[in-house]
Amino acid sequence: MSKNILITGGAGFIGSHLVRHFVNKYPSYRIINLDKLTYAGNLESLKDIESAANYSFVKGDICDAKLIQEVLENNQVDGIIHLAAESHVDRSILNPMEFVTTNVIGTVTLLNAARNYWQERKDVRFYHVSTDEVYGSLKDGEYFLETTPYDPQSPYSASKASSDHFVRAYGNTYDMPYILSNCSNNYGPFQFPEKLLPLFISNILNNKPLPVYGKGENIRDWLWVKDHCEAIDLIYHKGANGETYNIGGRNEWKNIDLIHLLCDEMDKKLGREAGSSRGLITYVTDRPGHDMRYAIDPSKLERDLGWTPSLTFEEGLGHTIDWYLANQEWIDSVKSGSYQNYYTQQYGSRLEA
Ligand code: NAD
Ligand code: TYD
Repeated sequence: MSKNILITGGAGFIGSHLVRHFVNKYPSYRIINLDKLTYAGNLESLKDIESAANYSFVKGDICDAKLIQEVLENNQVDGIIHLAAESHVDRSILNPMEFVTTNVIGTVTLLNAARNYWQERKDVRFYHVSTDEVYGSLKDGEYFLETTPYDPQSPYSASKASSDHFVRAYGNTYDMPYILSNCSNNYGPFQFPEKLLPLFISNILNNKPLPVYGKGENIRDWLWVKDHCEAIDLIYHKGANGETYNIGGRNEWKNIDLIHLLCDEMDKKLGREAGSSRGLITYVTDRPGHDMRYAIDPSKLERDLGWTPSLTFEEGLGHTIDWYLANQEWIDSVKSGSYQNYYTQQYGSRLEA
């Protein structure tokens, strides 16, 4: 069986793990990684597999219809796993238009190219990787199911929701084989150091303040990035056409509890006095429209495809901290230096006070 799979966004956080997973696990497949290499895309994350015989990289934009068409034709692509996106909520608050361009127009451009190239073929698959944030914010005791109505609250989640709708609309209108998954917050190596965990690990290491938005009471459901990739592999190969699968590890954490755990683990690993990193916690003005709680019910994925997460959160967090401590050069090499997140841009002076 020949499988020529185009992975978009393969130089990003999740994409780099997914590309490595497919390249190593499926030597008979050809994996083509198409990525624009924005601030969030770094080929440094793929050094170990860059010369693999079944791997190739194309620098390009998913909004570039001509290029996408050429990539599909030249590589006889029969599967697309689409991850390329603008992915950070804070950035979407500052620059929503970039999110519309890449996440909505880019996705539709890719769908169009796939439709043009595949025509009526049914032995192909368009896999759209999405987020649980499209469902909005939960109250206590509720969980996101595949049937939960969409209720996106940030420019990021609104743009992802729109792209999800377009994928389903293409499937419905043009009978294109497609599949979707919506996953909870990922963590692990190679995450861009402006997201919560890598930012806070870096700040603890450098004795900088830890800016906790609001009261730190928001809840996120954290998943080890390699478990997400295992789920994508299963869904890509065994999921039913036209289906959606929610991916999550039943691992809810209130931000402040997670930050306390992180501080305590960092103190141990750095040989610092117990409690010293907690002293860096600084409560700052909340993110506008900050969703209170996300929590996935992954029963469908567990029941239909037999997926389970491979490790506990404490194990995954330990691996994550160890990786960032051992890979400071990666962090230095990927930091653009020009970006300040929403909080720092609006309230930076108060943080310094
Ligand atoms: P990321 O920001 O780390 O990586 C995104 C990648 O897309 C980067 O390599 C970037 O260069 C590339 N890219 C951006 N715009 C592009 C364009 N116009 N053309 C081609 N490439 C472009 O994101 P991530 O955290 O790895 O997320 C990957 C996907 O998974 C996204 O679609 C995101 O919505 C989804 N997702 C992420 C999470 C999470 O917790 N990180 C959870 C669920 C779903
Ligand atoms: P983030 O990693 O940005 O992911 P998302 O917004 O997609 O969930 O943030 C995770 C949680 O941490 C979220 O509730 C916002 C909060 N947060 C802070 O309190 N301080 C920070 O500096 C950052 C980046 C996030």
